[in-house]
Amino acid sequence: MERIALVTGSTSNVGKAIAETLSREGYHVIITSRHEEEAKEVAASLPRTGSFFRLDFAKAEEIKALFDFIGEKFGRLDVLVNNVAYTKNESILDCDLETWQLTIDTNLRSYYLCSRYAALLMKDNGGGSIVNITVASTRGNKNKFSYRTSKGGINFMTLSAALDLAPYNIRVNAIGISHTGTPVGYRDYHGRSYENKKVPLGRIGNPEEVADVVAFLVSDKATYIVGAIIPVDGGSNIASS
Ligand SMILES: NC(=O)c1ccc[n+]([C@@H]2O[C@H](COP(=O)([O-])OP(=O)(O)OC[C@H]3O[C@@H](n4cnc5c(N)ncnc54)[C@H](OP(=O)(O)O)[C@@H]3O)[C@@H](O)[C@H]2O)c1
Repeated sequence: MERIALVTGSTSNVGKAIAETLSREGYHVIITSRHEEEAKEVAASLPRTGSFFRLDFAKAEEIKALFDFIGEKFGRLDVLVNNVAYTKNESILDCDLETWQLTIDTNLRSYYLCSRYAALLMKDNGGGSIVNITVASTRGNKNKFSYRTSKGGINFMTLSAALDLAPYNIRVNAIGISHTGTPVGYRDYHGRSYENKKVPLGRIGNPEEVADVVAFLVSDKATYIVGAIIPVDGGSNIASS
């Protein structure tokens, strides 16, 4: 039976690399973004041609429509990778209610809704695997107030959902990343250089380095890993500054 994987926000950078890697591993991957043509192109370019769905993850009713589509077309879901993110660089002093709401809806609420709808499909099919893309850091982040808050929520969501869903053989884990490929929200390097002295490894990460860990976590080699938040950050989180 064909295994189905959904990657939220999968037309660029990390999400696109995850989609390509899972496709190479034999999954039928569902590509998602706010732009239909781009999603269609990426789905067609995968090693195994995938499906695509246009939606805005900030809108709860559009997420429902995505899962109605998955239920009707495939009747199952084996892997969910929650990857989509919105960020606006501002401090708590600059963060108005609109930015707060958009960040929480796009990042935190979409991870919750997708996880819940995915789990409902997975539990009827003997299990599955959910991977949340987040940050591993246990520190604050200046001028990233709403974004960082949403990621903190995702980390505890990972732990709680992992406990709720383990009895159904649905394994929930997370990957904590930093400085990977292009900055969140940009399709180019936007001044980011490959060498980076703040990262212990001395360079930023490649999206494929995250994708390989996703492929491992959802594979039969990771069947006893539940509720882990694995850092894939070149050592950034353990560095003192
Ligand atoms: N890049 C980094 O250095 C870095 C560091 C730490 C953590 N992360 C995390 O890694 C994940 C991926 O980051 P990234 O840098 O690869 O992101 P990105 O390049 O900005 O890609 C975002 C993807 O999500 C889609 N998207 C954005 N908003 C959407 C929305 N409201 N509805 C539907 N699709 C939407 C985009 O397509 P459209 O624009 O066409 O909708 C695109 O496919 C995020 O969770 C991020 O927080 C990244």
